[in-house]
Amino acid sequence: MSGYFSYPDASLQEELKKTAEAIVVPGKGILAVDESNEGIGKLLASVGLENTENNRRRYRQLLFTTDMLSENISAVILFDETVYQKTDDGTSFIDLLKKKNIIPGIKVDKDVVPLYLSEDEVTTQGLDDLAQRCAVYKKQGCRFAKWRCPLKISEHTPSVQAIQDTAQILARYASICQSQGLVPIVEPDVLLDGDHDIVRTQKVTEVVLAAVYKSLNDHHVFLEGTLIKPNMVTPGQACPKRNTPEEIATATVTALLRGVPAAVPGIVFLSGGQSEEEATVNLNAINNVQLKKPWALTFSYGRALQASVWKTWAGKDENIKKAQIELLKRAKANGLASVGKYQPGDVTTAAGDSSNYTKNHKY
Ligand code: 13P
Repeated sequence: MSGYFSYPDASLQEELKKTAEAIVVPGKGILAVDESNEGIGKLLASVGLENTENNRRRYRQLLFTTDMLSENISAVILFDETVYQKTDDGTSFIDLLKKKNIIPGIKVDKDVVPLYLSEDEVTTQGLDDLAQRCAVYKKQGCRFAKWRCPLKISEHTPSVQAIQDTAQILARYASICQSQGLVPIVEPDVLLDGDHDIVRTQKVTEVVLAAVYKSLNDHHVFLEGTLIKPNMVTPGQACPKRNTPEEIATATVTALLRGVPAAVPGIVFLSGGQSEEEATVNLNAINNVQLKKPWALTFSYGRALQASVWKTWAGKDENIKKAQIELLKRAKANGLASVGKYQPGDVTTAAGDSSNYTKNHKY
């Protein structure tokens, strides 16, 4: 069957749906540790370590060997190199995660390049060999994938050109993932950079989501077997007017209600440069807002789960246990926030209130 009548076959639908639902099970969310080698290199440099394969492995080992990590972490997003790495005792990271009942996933976009003749916007690469790469990752034990398309807000952006490009690319990516049995996490990331207010972020987010779901529909993507990873609707980082968590929650859920079909099992927010505590408090407010919420609303944080880990570890073996406790505290706080039960200030971590924003952040 083809065209208007096609979706993945019934058994594949079942598998995709089960995976997507398991990732957003109540009280849990995703640990995003898919920093590129360049991205993690900056973090390693900040603790005085060289950007070597072994140092990248040692850091990720610290995360994955954390006892009780699965209490609030359902899944992790890996970078290509990490899929093939092992702990000191020779256990593959993927086997270790599976043993802990944590679902391994993989970042599959190949990062951004300039979008020609746009307003300084970008497009994302990696579609050409994606089916083959997905098949390999599936064999290695990954069950989902992630692809991020950033869009920036300025006077004339995001442009129609960039929005359409993002929507097309995310839909092709999602359809290829499903064809290979991986749940696609679709990530249109409206960036925090800029001095725009929350009203503008909300409108832009709505327009982007509408374009993305139209395109997913055009490509016969089976929505029950997908997740979406959007930005929260906040004012731009340089906007003088700051909004309360309740205002952010209302704007975010309103935009999502307008743009994300109820068939999608879950929304897994990126943290985007918010401080650890802000990202937790805003997620908590989102889960408490008095609006319809047909999907699970949880976290897929990178910086907002790891900032305190980096600060505490500082590259030293003797700090590993302490750094793992920081990770558990943040995961627990976000787990509570994902069901609206976090009390702001309840958890304190080494970098809890420090902003994680950097201009033109490189993942
Ligand atoms: P942040 O939470 O640091 O924004 O990272 C999430 C992520 O994986 C973006 O692709």
